[in-house]
Amino acid sequence: MKIVVINGSARKGNTQTAIAAFAKGASDRHEVEVIAADKLQIAPCKGCGACECYKGCIDKDDTNVTIDKLAEADMILFATPVYWWGITAQMKLVIDKCYCRGMQLKEKKVGAIVIGGAPTDGIQYELIRKQFECMAQYLSWDMVFHKSYSANTTDELAKNEAAIKELEQLGASV
Ligand SMILES: Cc1cc2nc3c(=O)[nH]c(=O)nc-3n(C[C@H](O)[C@H](O)[C@H](O)COP(=O)(O)O)c2cc1C
Repeated sequence: MKIVVINGSARKGNTQTAIAAFAKGASDRHEVEVIAADKLQIAPCKGCGACECYKGCIDKDDTNVTIDKLAEADMILFATPVYWWGITAQMKLVIDKCYCRGMQLKEKKVGAIVIGGAPTDGIQYELIRKQFECMAQYLSWDMVFHKSYSANTTDELAKNEAAIKELEQLGASV
């Protein structure tokens, strides 16, 4: 499979660690490309409707090149820190622009990795899980996994051997 990962974090921290562990497990059998959402120039969706949900975006920025990659992927992995009980703004910019080719993003395999500072029984993880579940239902995605981890300082997840092992196994199992 061609797996495209959207990294919603701007720092070299826990999300990057989680993606690296997943990619380590997945790379034997799959092609993995990681897109750093923070490095993209993507203007917010203005809801102009010019795309008609399949033509692509009229914005002259990184939108179309990014959404084209997602449309061509067999699997999309959304990996995001929790910011204010939700996904990061960088991740949301990409997701909103999925609207411009929404009809071509259907029936993908999809995974989600969410990392917050609070313990994983906090409501933020449930809110984000519900958001991805709703998107998955709308676009007929096969939600392969949704994993939540608690880590705050940049190196905290890397010290969680069980989490790293689980992420490597997840990568190997997709
Ligand atoms: C602006 C901001 C908002 C945050 N909001 C939350 C939150 O609502 N809930 C939570 O559990 N953690 C929150 N955190 C903590 C981050 O999710 C946590 O530090 C995470 O490990 C960051 O991932 P990263 O190292 O990949 O950037 C917030 C951090 C920042 C900087």
